[in-house]
Amino acid sequence: MYSETVDFIRSIYNKNKKEDDFIALHEPCFDKTEEDKVVECIKSTFVSSVGQFVVEFEEKIAQFCNVKKAVACVNGTNALHLALKLAGVTRGDKVITQPLTFIATANAIKYCDAEPVFVDIDKETLGLSPEKLEDYLKKHKDIKAVVPMHTFGHPCKIDEIKEICEKYNVKLVEDCAESLGSFYKGIHTGNWAEGSAISFNGNKVVTTGGGGMLLFNDEKLAQHAKHLTTQAKIPHRWEFRHSEIGYNYRMPNLNASLGLAQLSKINLFLEKKRALAKKYEEFFKERFFKEPKNAKSNYWLQAILLDNRKQRDEFLTYTNDNNVMTRPCWCLMNELEMFKNCEKGNLENAKYIEERLVNIPSGANYA
Ligand SMILES: Cc1ncc(COP(=O)(O)O)c(C=O)c1O
Repeated sequence: MYSETVDFIRSIYNKNKKEDDFIALHEPCFDKTEEDKVVECIKSTFVSSVGQFVVEFEEKIAQFCNVKKAVACVNGTNALHLALKLAGVTRGDKVITQPLTFIATANAIKYCDAEPVFVDIDKETLGLSPEKLEDYLKKHKDIKAVVPMHTFGHPCKIDEIKEICEKYNVKLVEDCAESLGSFYKGIHTGNWAEGSAISFNGNKVVTTGGGGMLLFNDEKLAQHAKHLTTQAKIPHRWEFRHSEIGYNYRMPNLNASLGLAQLSKINLFLEKKRALAKKYEEFFKERFFKEPKNAKSNYWLQAILLDNRKQRDEFLTYTNDNNVMTRPCWCLMNELEMFKNCEKGNLENAKYIEERLVNIPSGANYA
């Protein structure tokens, strides 16, 4: 199975020489569009935190995600930090998130001097389990906020999660770092929470090099977010006055120019990623992780499930030895030194997935 898999992936990416043809997990796709736009930005001299491309990129992302306002940030991690801050998360608060996530989710909670609490995922979505969330909230009345994540671009059951958050009066922040282009019940992810965060890291569906975006349906919150990303400077022709402690979190114009060029091709990228998912599903059959019910996923990182940790590790060794990049999912947050003493529920589903899941090459950079 392992050598057939390597041959199959090589045939998709049309890279047939095992020795020199490395296949990455997720390569960005660039052509003249990106080159022209970035050069245009350089020629304008507005390469830093002021410029028309950032504004245009925010407008286009807001339009694509169908939210009222988008606020550009330096990366997804600081977008998430601000989303939590704007949700009122502060020192000593407890914030529920999933143990199976990229570390930035848990770190952003810590940046607010708050404590992550880990609640299990659903096996069908890989995102926070509504049942386990409700069970936890029933027994613990001191939770401030909940941060579900749309894992590998697969939407979690965000409508049920929102309903539970409202019932128990806790704030909801969506970590949409991986889910640009993913829809749940026909609505783009990021529309359920008061504030949501996207990432445009080099490995995402659309990249700005490094970058992030906050999504809001509340204009006042968006205005406050933008103020915080620009050192909370009160606009004035020459005076430097600041109304509160702010951050240097505004995305540079140069990155936004790259983002605009990328965004102009997002539908093509998404189509190619869904077509790739179809090929993988035909090849891997029931091992392939399919988009959940009611969801249209961006299939950011394609995934398969192996029988156990031993088989997973054999598969990882074989594919990486053969220059085909594959990766296990993240080590569970509650198993990391910094988070090992955090509160948690029963995490059996996250453990099950962590032991079996492997991400396989997922870029749209195939012919
Ligand atoms: C789930 C999740 N949250 C947050 C982030 C942080 O985004 P960034 O790398 O842009 O800081 C990422 C990843 O890149 C992520 O995968």
